[in-house]
Amino acid sequence: MSSIEIESTGQICGARIRGVDLTKPLSPIEVADIRAAWLEHHVVIFPDQVIDDDDLERFTLSFGPFGVDTFFGPIEGREHIAAINRDADETSPLFAENWHTDWSFQEHPPQGTCLRAVTIPSTGGDTLFADQHAAFDAMPASLRERLEGKRAIHSAKLPYSPQGSYGDADRDSGRSMDIRPSEEAFAEFSHPILREHPETGRLGIFGCIGYIIGIEDMEPAESMPLLKELHDWQSQERFVYRHAWEPDMLVLWDNRSVLHAATGGYEGHSRRLHRTTIGAAV
Ligand code: SIN
Repeated sequence: MSSIEIESTGQICGARIRGVDLTKPLSPIEVADIRAAWLEHHVVIFPDQVIDDDDLERFTLSFGPFGVDTFFGPIEGREHIAAINRDADETSPLFAENWHTDWSFQEHPPQGTCLRAVTIPSTGGDTLFADQHAAFDAMPASLRERLEGKRAIHSAKLPYSPQGSYGDADRDSGRSMDIRPSEEAFAEFSHPILREHPETGRLGIFGCIGYIIGIEDMEPAESMPLLKELHDWQSQERFVYRHAWEPDMLVLWDNRSVLHAATGGYEGHSRRLHRTTIGAAV
């Protein structure tokens, strides 16, 4: 056991971790303890960590390879760090306000995502996390039976194709983030809707409508109402941990266990976080 201290948020998921210095390489036992906490709590929060992008990259690589961020340009001088940025005077539609799990449209979606606070507004800008194990556990049998054995078709086309919401229509919005829509967004991969977590084996719901554009072997007239019903179920407030950011904070979440969504409420203030993904262990 390392000397890390883990304190649950007291909400549906999430835990704060102290007693570790992220400016230094993690020991194997620290990595093992953080990984165990991450698998148990799904979102782990490291407050009071004055770290830079080298530290962020080293932390990320402690848990797996970098993920592939097809539709983001990296920040200057880095290959694997993207900026989630909003300028104080920006009026473009808020980025990532819809529930999603990162890059579920890939064949091998990333295990996790790390976000490092760079500029945090004094108010607003919380990130919401919806626990998809809790949503599965509480799911009524009538809904579960209609989803069992079904595979969802995931695609990035609605947000990231040239015709998508971050595509041509967004070009003149004044968005400060480096989003790069492309034809690659039309690729489709399917994943089971209800599935065992690849590491813990715990059953949960994977993904939601948005990146999910249909269900295999179902007509849209049947699949879309079902996906909307699932969305209403899996994003209920009782499954949600609301994360309030602080300066010098790093958060790591498990894309296999939670959905997440950005929130606004910081008009007139800038917000910037540096982001990496941890690729799938394939
Ligand atoms: C994201 O979805 O990666 C961004 C979350 C946030 O801005 O709070």
